[in-house]
Amino acid sequence: MAGRNAIQEKVHQWVYSEDAFQRLDETDDTIFYKTDRFVSHLDRTALDTVEQIIGTLIIEDRPVILDLMAGWDSHIPESVPAAEVVGLGLNENELKSNKALTRYILHDINADPTLPFGDNTFDVVLNTVSVDYMTRPFQVFAETARVLKPGGMLLVIFSNRMFPQKAVKVWKESTEEERIILVEDFFKSVPDFGETQLVVSKGKPRPADDKYAHLGIPSDPIYAMWAEKKGAPQGRRKRRVPILSAGAPVSPSEFEERKRQVKKTLQCPHCGERMKKWKIPQTPFTEWDNEFMYICFNDACPYLLRGWGVMESQGNRGFSYRMMYNPDRDVLLPVPVPNLRALKESIVEED
Ligand SMILES: C[S@@+](CC[C@H](N)C(=O)[O-])C[C@H]1O[C@@H](n2cnc3c(N)ncnc32)[C@H](O)[C@@H]1O
Repeated sequence: MAGRNAIQEKVHQWVYSEDAFQRLDETDDTIFYKTDRFVSHLDRTALDTVEQIIGTLIIEDRPVILDLMAGWDSHIPESVPAAEVVGLGLNENELKSNKALTRYILHDINADPTLPFGDNTFDVVLNTVSVDYMTRPFQVFAETARVLKPGGMLLVIFSNRMFPQKAVKVWKESTEEERIILVEDFFKSVPDFGETQLVVSKGKPRPADDKYAHLGIPSDPIYAMWAEKKGAPQGRRKRRVPILSAGAPVSPSEFEERKRQVKKTLQCPHCGERMKKWKIPQTPFTEWDNEFMYICFNDACPYLLRGWGVMESQGNRGFSYRMMYNPDRDVLLPVPVPNLRALKESIVEED
């Protein structure tokens, strides 16, 4: 792959086994996607987050947009005054009913990864919840760079649901954190792309009327990674990293009061939820001398929700932190987590 050194090439061969991009269903994609589905691939909260990300990152005045692997909704908010939105996908009825599109093209990128557009055509290429179906992502990413104008952006948004029969093996076998690395690797394989950036949204509550809301399952996680094609015109505005809302902030005075009360209430000062007693695992990395801590395991705690962005901005991709209370020393401190499951196995029943 262009742009790789010898070590990267070895890692590449190791990660991508010969069957890495095979699927359970290897029949022609046009057959699978001929069936109209018109389903929502994300819950409403996650869709709002996707719209917010797209709306913030598109800075061009009258952008020409390619929605790559488009369905019936392109998730482009009304605030984006697109000059043109081209949808490329496989289901004609869904593309026809997509109100954002000014035209559409039926084209199978797995059969032919060459995109049917000229060089330097688009300001933005969007690819939403579909990268897991690409069997030739390196070629497709290289093609997106070719069709983007200098300074144009490829924005790849992914989550954790999929059609398992059509998702590629390496995606299915990867954790959510590893998928971030996969997508980054696709970007990095194309020398024309500049630095990648990432925002993560995890743990937001589902809307009350969502069919899974009563199960306490949080909103679908959203990972959005983007990079610009090198060569942006001098002096052009910079894209702002979207700041994803993380619940209503507690007032500073209320926060200080909650901190003072933690010893008595064991409530997280950020969200007010009671922290859970947590047995410190015996590992070579923990130096704490007490046996138990208290940790806020509220997946929608604003401290945790904000943490994904804070950690990313400090170079710790795919991490956040939870609020922890050390009862022996009466101090609050952050404990890092790579996902929402982490640390939960050591929660112990309350006394
Ligand atoms: C999970 S849906 C996502 C649709 C849309 N991007 C969205 O955000 O709702 C996957 C989409 O990828 C398209 N797709 C799947 N395989 C494809 C292929 N080989 N070539 C082109 N499009 C493909 C399908 O038409 C389908 O609309």
